[in-house]
This record gives sequence, structure tokens and C-alpha cells, in this order.
Amino acid sequence: MNFDEIIDRHGTHSVKWDMMEKIYGVPAADGIPMWVADMDFRPPACVQKAVEDMADHGIYGYFGDDSAYRAAIAWWMENRHGWQVDPAAIFTTHGLVNGTAMCVDTFTAPGDGVVLFTPVYHAFARVIKAAGRDVVECEMTLKDNRYSLDIEAYDAQMTGRERMLVLCSPHNPGGRVWTRAELEEVADFARRHDLVLVSDEIHHDLVMPGQSHMPMALLDGVADRLVMMTATTKTFNIAGSHIGNVIIEDEALRARFAARMAALGMSPNSFGLFMATAAYSPEGAAWVDDLVTYLDGNRRLFDEAVNEIPGLASMPLESTYLAWVDFTGTGMTRAEFTTRVEQDARIAANHGPTFGKGGEGFLRFNLATPRARVEEAVARLQQAFGDLQ
Ligand SMILES: Cc1ncc(COP(=O)(O)O)c(C=O)c1O
Repeated sequence: MNFDEIIDRHGTHSVKWDMMEKIYGVPAADGIPMWVADMDFRPPACVQKAVEDMADHGIYGYFGDDSAYRAAIAWWMENRHGWQVDPAAIFTTHGLVNGTAMCVDTFTAPGDGVVLFTPVYHAFARVIKAAGRDVVECEMTLKDNRYSLDIEAYDAQMTGRERMLVLCSPHNPGGRVWTRAELEEVADFARRHDLVLVSDEIHHDLVMPGQSHMPMALLDGVADRLVMMTATTKTFNIAGSHIGNVIIEDEALRARFAARMAALGMSPNSFGLFMATAAYSPEGAAWVDDLVTYLDGNRRLFDEAVNEIPGLASMPLESTYLAWVDFTGTGMTRAEFTTRVEQDARIAANHGPTFGKGGEGFLRFNLATPRARVEEAVARLQQAFGDLQ
């Protein structure tokens, strides 16, 4: 796979490219979109072939017998993550934002609290609030440019009205790969406060060399409250297929989730099923290994150049391709550093406050793009903040 290939995505209904000007005021013609978390790469050939086979056949009827699809998921989890999944425990949702919303709907009631460790992926709070539940923001601790959890402080924050915790593992933004000890603390916290623990592990395949992700499901004593969420979409850049795995080992929780799926008439689309089955394969695995090596190269280049700008600090990513840059050292207001990035550097990056408490001084930059574009972005940033050098 040639990750250096520049593929023009303008005018393809790409939200990242085609909504950049409208949302950020960054010109479509020469702006660099580094916001939405999708990649400017084609998926592996096996996924492309699955779509081509469908198109060649040309009939797009209802899908039947998903046993190969379930087996492919189980194969991937066992081979890539050392986690044995019962194919019967897998639900297919329309992606993991939908999976999160389904969990909120199934396991909580209006007015209940749902706990998040912030700053965190913004769509969690969006669906929780839209469902009339309260977002309980437990802010992570930032020390030496790395996040950690302050479980004692979160214990004190609980009121008894919380029913669910959504963990992002690995964490977006910031890229923390939680250690076993940290995951155990989270599981204990969920147990102490009787919370359903939803572990969104969508970034679990995009883990930097030297790091090792542990699925929450491998911990003892947590299965009775655990919902695991994984997907092919982030890993293989097929987010438009809107498909995700919600995996529930516990039979009582599973029955409740199944009942809500049935009540809402949910069933997956066949493009997503064919693509996911093709992706979770040895060919897909080899592609992911190459991808991670490439992304690691991009983040090294980005971090080195950005950290040379006085006042800017890019968090060392343990996972994800989403650089999280702290601008507070510049002493500038949020409006000023954001204006410099958007209007001077012509880069669209996600605004930190969208991710909740603790995100105020940050912007998030998507590095999953050909290296030449990352080089251009850092050159523009160095120029936009040139007076600080
Ligand atoms: C933690 C996390 N969960 C879910 C999603 C999106 O999931 P989906 O596209 O399957 O709805 C993202 C996208 O960036 C994410 O970072």
C-alpha cells in the first residue's frame, strides 16, 4: 500500500474535506483538513474487492446468514487482541456512536447520570444529552504532558444518580493506552458505584509500536456489567459503512440490549457486513501493521516540528492518529491561537472545548494523511507562530 499517494477527496461528500470551509472558514482550495477522524487512504485491497464484487453482481438485496461475518470478528479479536469472543455475543449497530446511544437508551433512564473521563470524544456527550441524561464530567489529570485518572476525586464526585460509565480505551484525544492497573481501577470504580461499564475500544488496532492495548474484557470480575464496543471502521478507514460491534458477554445485559434492538427494528446494511468480513482477515492484518508504521512516522515528524514552536506541546501518542496539542504555553487567548491555525496556517483542527472539561487550551490534529501533507501543515504552523521562535 502506498500511503504517500495523494488522493483528491474534494467534491466527494467527504465531511472532512467538503464541510471544512463552511464550518471552520478554512478555504477549500488550499486548506488542510485535520479534523474529522477519517483517513485520506484507501482501505486494503481485500475490502475494495468486497465492494467491487458487490457492484459487479449488481443486486443489493437483503443479507442472510451472518455466520462468516461473526466468525471474522471472533478471529480478529482472538488473533490481534488475545480475546476470545462468543459469536453469539455480538450485536451489529450502525457504528459506535449509535452503539453508545443504544447503551444509553437500554441501560439508563432520563435524568440518570452517565460518567465520562474528559476531555473525551465529543459524540459521547452529544448522544447522552440528546437522550435527556446528564453528562457527569470527571476531568483527567494532566501531568508531564500525559493524562491519568484521579479515581479518588471521581469517587467524591458521584451522587448516586450515575448509572453508566463510558470509557474510551485507548483514549481519544491524547492517545493514552490504559495499563492493566488503570483498567482495574476503572472496573473497581464501576463496581463501587454500580455502573454499567461501556468500553469503546474503536482505536484498539491503531496502537503505536512499543505499546500494548488490553481489552477490558480480559479483566476478571467485570463481565457482569461490561459492554465492549469495537469496529472495523476506524482501523480500515471505512467509517461511511457505519457498522460497529457491540459485544456483551453477560446474558442478562445481552437480553436487555437485544430487546431494545428489536424494539427499534435495527438491522445492518449489507455493504458494512461484506466490508467488515473482508477486513478482519490476514490480508487486513498485514495492511494494519503497515498503516501503524506509517502513522508512527507521521506523528514523529509532527511532534518534533510542533514541539520546536515555543509554547506548543504535542502529547506523545500511545495510540490513535489524533495529535492533541496544548497551546496554553503561548499565553494567547483561545481565539488568537485558533485564528492563527485556521486563518494563517489554513488548517482545520478540532477545537478542544468540544471534548469537555480540560480541553480548553487544545486543538486536535488528524495525522492520517500522506506525509507530504503533514510536512506542509507543520511548515504552515511554524510560519503562523513564527514570531514566537
Ligand atoms: C472513541 C470513538 N468512538 C466512536 C467513534 C465513531 O464511531 P462511529 O463512526 O462508528 O459512529 C469515534 C470516531 O472518531 C471515536 O473516536
